[in-house]
Amino acid sequence: MEYFPAPGRNHLFVPGPTNIPEAVLQAMNRNNEDHRSPAFPALSKSVIEDVKQLFRTQTATSFIFPSSGTGAWESTLTNTLSPGDKIIVPCLGQFAVIWINLMKRLNFDVDVIESEWGEGVNLDILLQKLQADRSHAVKAVCVVHNETSTGVTNDLGLVRKSLDEAGHPALLLVDGVSSVGAIDFRMDEWRVDVALTGSQKALSLPTGLGIVCASPKALEACKHVKSTRGYFDWREYLECYKAGTYWPYTPSVQMLYGLRASLDLILKVEGLENIIARHLRLAEATREAVKAWGLTVSAKKPEWDSAVVTGVVVPPWLDSNDVIKIAWKKYNLSLGVGLGKVAGKLFRIGHLGYMNELQLLGALAGVELSLKDVGYPVVLGSGVAAAQGCLSKQTPLIASRL
Ligand SMILES: Cc1ncc(COP(=O)(O)O)c(C=O)c1O
Repeated sequence: MEYFPAPGRNHLFVPGPTNIPEAVLQAMNRNNEDHRSPAFPALSKSVIEDVKQLFRTQTATSFIFPSSGTGAWESTLTNTLSPGDKIIVPCLGQFAVIWINLMKRLNFDVDVIESEWGEGVNLDILLQKLQADRSHAVKAVCVVHNETSTGVTNDLGLVRKSLDEAGHPALLLVDGVSSVGAIDFRMDEWRVDVALTGSQKALSLPTGLGIVCASPKALEACKHVKSTRGYFDWREYLECYKAGTYWPYTPSVQMLYGLRASLDLILKVEGLENIIARHLRLAEATREAVKAWGLTVSAKKPEWDSAVVTGVVVPPWLDSNDVIKIAWKKYNLSLGVGLGKVAGKLFRIGHLGYMNELQLLGALAGVELSLKDVGYPVVLGSGVAAAQGCLSKQTPLIASRL
């Protein structure tokens, strides 16, 4: 029995967890299985290999942990750094704040580059800091690719360029939790040393898999660093890879079947390029709607606009939580809350994962109704029409129905 039943389907427009495709639900609907059977390594190997395509890497080694994205963060930090190591972290929003707190708890020496929320990485300051660090005391630069709390995406190619321009050997560690599999991500081209994601975002799975890709340089660091590692130790996994057993502990069989089905949908049915284009299209349509409502998006420059989540800033007299509450209570529409510093000031429309144009238009109609309900002078239909205008020009035939 659902806790709060409502007619129809819930319109899930938070930027993760995202909608789970029927094929993935079906794939997970199975009995437990012996993960030590002779047959299981074939499934394990296939997902460990294929997941790398989402990161666009042929050189990295992947690890799949039974955790959320935060476990993948912890594994990234403890396997590549020693306590006391200096790291530079741009702070652009709530997920960077949480990551920084984790870094401090793990006893790293964190040098934070603050940006106003809504802005991307301050590349000038990053370059200055790297150039000033002549002794190469800085061991890593840690960047959130897509800051889900503010709807800001960073250009990782430019971050890499800063490291190269400074001739700095620091590792580049990237949180791709809300980007990998939905936003263009080029691990090998940008020479990202570790990138990570979580299953409940672009992969459209339940929460429960933390996925990490580590470059050869990161694997080398793993051999020498001194952080205490327990559950998330890459070395345990590497031993199992060598032995062909793949898991140092019991994996979630159902999640791995779900991951296989999700990868098939992404790589074989729709295609990663098409998925990236779909996210760009839905994001642009959403921004057109926001403009038509007379509101602004939280990303302060178009170059930072996120393809997976749009932050909508409300006027100071309005509490964004009221919009979110009425949307859920009256229209069965789930929107993202403003997190941390921007609580009450913005709400977020997630357009991430398995969704299409008409689902988005339904959600935008729901946002309009909710805005009207809380007293914002919106013209009903204005945002929907603006989004339709955008989508009618851009929407291609569905890849599997050409
Ligand atoms: C950019 C980003 N990083 C990290 C996290 C934390 O991941 P998790 O909640 O899966 O632990 C999130 C969650 O939304 C996120 O959006």
